[in-house]
Amino acid sequence: MKTKNSVFIATSIDGYISDKNGKIDWLNTIPNPSNDDMGYNEFMIGIDALVMGRKTFETVCSFDVDWPYEKPVFVLSNSLQEVEEELKDKVFLIHGSLKEVLHQIRKKGFKNLYIDGGATIQSFLKEDLIDEFVITTIPILLGGGTSLFSELPKKMEYELVNTKQYLNAISQNRFRRKRIN
Ligand SMILES: NC(=O)c1ccc[n+]([C@@H]2O[C@H](COP(=O)([O-])OP(=O)(O)OC[C@H]3O[C@@H](n4cnc5c(N)ncnc54)[C@H](OP(=O)(O)O)[C@@H]3O)[C@@H](O)[C@H]2O)c1
Repeated sequence: MKTKNSVFIATSIDGYISDKNGKIDWLNTIPNPSNDDMGYNEFMIGIDALVMGRKTFETVCSFDVDWPYEKPVFVLSNSLQEVEEELKDKVFLIHGSLKEVLHQIRKKGFKNLYIDGGATIQSFLKEDLIDEFVITTIPILLGGGTSLFSELPKKMEYELVNTKQYLNAISQNRFRRKRIN
């Protein structure tokens, strides 16, 4: 079964995904009057399910909007016991080693996964489990916050698939992991 783990995320120039106060309002620094989704909907078409860290899940839950995902969301957590009733057919708590977690999710037939959350992406990277990155860079320096990346046990090469520009201000790079088969 061909599988893919992808990241679609926005960062500051200095590589943060949330600021020193844990906020992400800086993502809207550039006016976007036409609500350009910057490739998000197209990306989501290719996704079977999401794997999200507990902190990102809580951030999404704090938004004053309806549940935004049509695909199943697997939330990594060792602390959450259950999700609220109205999310029970959409959100599934999961824990264990990433190998076990991925085995359980793949067993259900979900091949293409969207991996979200800083610590979560970092733990996938430590095991060389990220096949694709779509990184949207917002032209701002935050000077601190939650980093997208952390130290890794080895070098990993990626190739640039494409670069797009949005709103004359935002760049987006798609990288694919170079693997020797
Ligand atoms: N800029 C963007 O596009 C973007 C996208 C996504 C998120 N964010 C922001 O990023 C922040 C959240 O990221 P984060 O790095 O703080 O946390 P995260 O990855 O969302 O969540 C970390 C939590 O996931 C759980 N977890 C369970 N198993 C894990 C494993 N193997 N590896 C890692 N985590 C595991 C743990 O929860 P327990 O403690 O329950 O065990 C851990 O505390 C939020 O502020 C969010 O708004 C920004």
